This record gives sequence, structure tokens and C-alpha cells, in this order.
Amino acid sequence: MRILVVGGGGREHALTWKIAQSPLVDAIWCAPGNAGMAALAECVDIGAEDIESLARFAAEKKIDLTVVGPEAPLVAGIADLFQEKGLPVFGPVRKAAQMEGSKDFAKRLMLEAGVPTGKAEAFTDYDAAEACIRNNSAPYVVKADGLAAGKGVVIAQDDRAAYEALKTCFVKRSFGAAGDKVLIEEFLEGQEVSIICFVDGEDILPMEPAQDYKRVGDGDTGPNTGGMGSYSPVPVLSREDYQRAVEEILRPTARALAGRGIHYKGILYAGIILTAGGPKVLEYNVRFGDPETQAVLPRLRSDIVEAMLAVVEGRLAQANLEWHDDPCVTVVVASGGYPGDYARGYPVTGLEEAGSMDGVTVFHAGTSLDEKGEVVTSGGRVLGVSALGKDFAAARERAYEAAARIAFTDIYYRKDIALRTLEV
Ligand code: GLY
Repeated sequence: MRILVVGGGGREHALTWKIAQSPLVDAIWCAPGNAGMAALAECVDIGAEDIESLARFAAEKKIDLTVVGPEAPLVAGIADLFQEKGLPVFGPVRKAAQMEGSKDFAKRLMLEAGVPTGKAEAFTDYDAAEACIRNNSAPYVVKADGLAAGKGVVIAQDDRAAYEALKTCFVKRSFGAAGDKVLIEEFLEGQEVSIICFVDGEDILPMEPAQDYKRVGDGDTGPNTGGMGSYSPVPVLSREDYQRAVEEILRPTARALAGRGIHYKGILYAGIILTAGGPKVLEYNVRFGDPETQAVLPRLRSDIVEAMLAVVEGRLAQANLEWHDDPCVTVVVASGGYPGDYARGYPVTGLEEAGSMDGVTVFHAGTSLDEKGEVVTSGGRVLGVSALGKDFAAARERAYEAAARIAFTDIYYRKDIALRTLEV
């Protein structure tokens, strides 16, 4: 088979790495890819959001399956376009991708289906939203309805922070049309768990759970990022709560989508808070998590291409997934300054020494090749160092030992990834 992977971050490198292990696969292209993906596939200079060019490329190269990594092309309708042109694609159509593209759509669907989630109200003007804040008490979660490059969610600890978040959307219009509608949500207290699930209509096939780290600093301090590390499985999530999340959250959500005439095909990712009252949905995404994928896929024994084809060909009910017992820990290695300003173009050394360690895989995120063919930094999150171990202590030790072999100017990573797993 000939596969096209759309995207160029750590998640897409992990997907490409896993796809490349499939005996079904003969050749892989990545658009646009990164320096790590270039070792497994041919990278083509087409942006992940240039869906027309991607469709032309897939037709020209006779691609058998296109796997879409990021949410933006899905929300823009890449799956609809590919389907219209008869090109096989793994990912939900635009209507289904509203589960991430419109927080209001997802919230209404959950509330109507009785899926446990925080209470919320939607507003389309500042005054009404401000009145809601005045009549309630902090903390609040203020969410731009549409896609806002991971910056559209603010946890406001007091009214002033909530007003600021509302102004960012309605007055400054920092997120454009994506902030024309805003949700004010109940704050849910508890640890967050990600469950990534294959979905084909009402049939679901959940993956092993993972947890990620959103804040930049140790001890969950500092600003939010795209994710500074992850691990899988999640010791704090009991098997019973995992089953509850599958049966009370994921399955009824898939059913509710089908009930609205939306045939969901692809990945549905539930961000779940383990509240004192049981698991509740914080948000849905319509793609694999980043950096959760980098910790989940090294544990997957099964052929991921088989599972994707089962979705595309409508036979997910007969598919299953097998897992390695060993846990996996992923440490994200970032450019100093991220998520604020940071420099690019620093040479990266030690990749081979790190990647040759037993159980270790180094996934590239923000890297590119310079004119000499050397790997240089090109993004805030540069690498994800994933390590399997016989237990979490061993996996952590390996991940940090591997990360210590890597060097570039202003290198930064958290030192406490998966530390809490040792305390459960
Ligand atoms: N790790 C959070 C996300 O992928 O949205």
C-alpha cells in the first residue's frame, strides 16, 4: 500500500513510525513532514491545510490511504474532498469534525446524549457573557467556540481573568471568527486522562489511556503549551473507571452522532477529568493526541494500518488491538523560551546515541534539515523522547537518560514527567 501522512509534528512522526512497521505498507509520503519523518518517508512540501493540493498529490501518486494528523484540515473538510474524489482517507468529515471545530456543538451533543460533562452556556456577545460571570462564581473555563491553535481555552481563577478572556475573543478578536461564540463552562476538578478511540459509526475501538502535561514548568507551573510530556497507561485510572468512560462517554457519543445522521469515521479523542463524581468530558478532539500518541503507539502490538483500514472499510466491529504491558514515558524536548518566543536553526546532536538505547524512540516534532543535511531546530517543541520500561521507574529513567544525550542551544525539558506514576 501507498500511504500519505498529513502533518509534520511529533504525533505525525509517531504515526509514520508505526505505519512503517506494517507489512501492508510499501511506501509512505508525508506532507509536509519533518527531519525525523524524512528517514521513513518521502517528505513533500505541501502544507497540512492546503487540502486541494493534498488531494491532487494523493490522486497523482495513487495513494491507497491518506492519514490526517492535525485537526485543522479535518475541520476544513479534507475528508469530504477526498471522498468526493474517491480517495481513501482516514479521518472524519467536516460535519463530524465539529466535535472539535465547535465546542458548542460538542457540548450540546453531550448534554443531549446524557454524556457526563461540565455545565456550560454559550454566548455570542460580550455583555451577556459578562453578566454570566457577574452572576456566578470563579473558577470558570472560558472557551472560544472554534479552533484557536490551542490558545482558545482559559481557566479563569477570578472574574477579572474571565473578563480578560472574553475581551480576547469579543473585543480584540484575537481568534477571528473562532472567537465569535464563547462557552463559559463549569471548572472540573481532578486529573485529566486522554482516551483515543477508533470510531466507525456506532462501532468503537478504544486505545489504552494516556496522560499529558500541558504546563511548561515542573510541578505544573507556567503557561500552557501544546504538551510537555506524556505517559501510558494511567495508574490513577482504574479499569472500572476506564470501562465507565468507554461505556458512559465514548459509546453514547458515537451513538448520538449516528443518531444525528453523522457517520463518524476516524479518531475521536476524549479528554476526561476524573472528578469525585466519576469521569466527565472536558473536551473532544477529532484526531490523535499530541504528545499522547508518542506514548501510546510504542505500546501498541497490533498493526495500526489494519485498524485504520477497518474503519475506512466499515468492519471495525471485527477489529481488536493488542498491547505491550510495559509502560511508556515521553519527555518533550523543547526550545528555551517556548511557548513564548524562541530561536530556530540550532544544530541538534546526540540523536543517534539517544535513539539507539534499548526501548527508546526519538520522535521529531519541530526539526528540519539544513543545507548540509544536518538536523536543526525549527519549532518550540523539538522532539519527543519515548521510552518503554518494565515499570514506570525504568521507563522514566531511560527517557531521561536518552534526553540527556541530546543537545542543542537553549534546550529545555520538564524533569517531572510521569513522576506522579511512582506515587500511585
Ligand atoms: N495533548 C492534547 C491534545 O492533543 O490536544
